Amino acid sequence: MPLLLPVNDESIARASALLRAGKLVAFPTETVYGLGADASNGQAVASLYAAKGRPSFNPLIVHVFSAGALDELVEWNDAAKELAKKFWPGPMTLVLRRKQAAPVSLLVSAGQDTLAVRIPAHPHALKLLKSVDLPIAAPSANASGRISPTTPQHVADSLGEAVDLILDGGRSPIGIESTVISLVDPCPVILRPGAVTHEQLKEALNEKVGFASSGSQEMPTSPGLLASHYAPALPVRLNVEIPDPTEAFLGFGPHARTAGAAFLNLSKKGSLNEAAANLFAMLRALDKPDYSCIAVAPIPDAGLGAAINDRLRRAAAERNVHVSG
Ligand code: TXA
Ligand code: MG
Repeated sequence: MPLLLPVNDESIARASALLRAGKLVAFPTETVYGLGADASNGQAVASLYAAKGRPSFNPLIVHVFSAGALDELVEWNDAAKELAKKFWPGPMTLVLRRKQAAPVSLLVSAGQDTLAVRIPAHPHALKLLKSVDLPIAAPSANASGRISPTTPQHVADSLGEAVDLILDGGRSPIGIESTVISLVDPCPVILRPGAVTHEQLKEALNEKVGFASSGSQEMPTSPGLLASHYAPALPVRLNVEIPDPTEAFLGFGPHARTAGAAFLNLSKKGSLNEAAANLFAMLRALDKPDYSCIAVAPIPDAGLGAAINDRLRRAAAERNVHVSG
């Protein structure tokens, strides 16, 4: 078992010291738990890729505690300033042009001339980032291609001894990874839907916002877009009203049928926010060899529903390519 400590001044100091020494620390954010490493330390970043079993062409998000800390890392533009003002700290990642002299390992960008950056809103994450005062590369703290962790226990189960310390901040309140938006080209493009929605981004920028195609398998635009991702071990079947008796059933809403070999409800009251917060933990709970499949009820596509359906489609996709995560 990796070391797991509740968040307090002492554990934050210990986590900072470990990060400064090139070690890996898992910490809570409002979206999911991240696996942090000093982004300026190439060896630390390499051990992060190794711990996740992540293909090295899948770039990482750099986390900082204030927009000022980004000045030496990326080229700002008007759209980036606007979105940063509106949605940071928060569940949004901006992809921007990387500055030539940015003190960030080239491994973090995986050979691209861009950098993904985020200021998380979780108070524990901010406290850690402020204390360590380094850009921290942090992918979701799960083995590559698997479901993102929303509790410290998920991190321990997925990564085990590969992580030097897990900061226990309870459940991640949003439960789905940040919205990733690229502002590198003239038209802003959503690379991964999340809690900051398409509508909110369009309104903030007062212009069209596109959705990315997934690019080629060899060099995806954003590797998290590859079809098979966020995958449980069991197959996943979507838009199921009535499951087979051998299937585990993930329902939604007050009228969900209690059926199947096991049953969980993403949100009895039909709240998409609650469903997002429960999604990964419930997929994990139903992912048992006792069942033939995880069947999932239809989820409305409004608001956070778009991000939920995006993750569910990836969970249900063909498993021949497992990249990213
Ligand atoms: O909510 C989150 O974003 C969490 C927490 C820990 O902050 N992090 C997270 O990281 O989900 P990760 O590595 O699991 O997903 C990052 C996504 C991937 O789909 C990756 O391909 C994309 O962001 N990405 C990172 N850098 C990029 C870049 N320079 N250009 C395009 N996509 C990039
Ligand atoms: Mg991930």
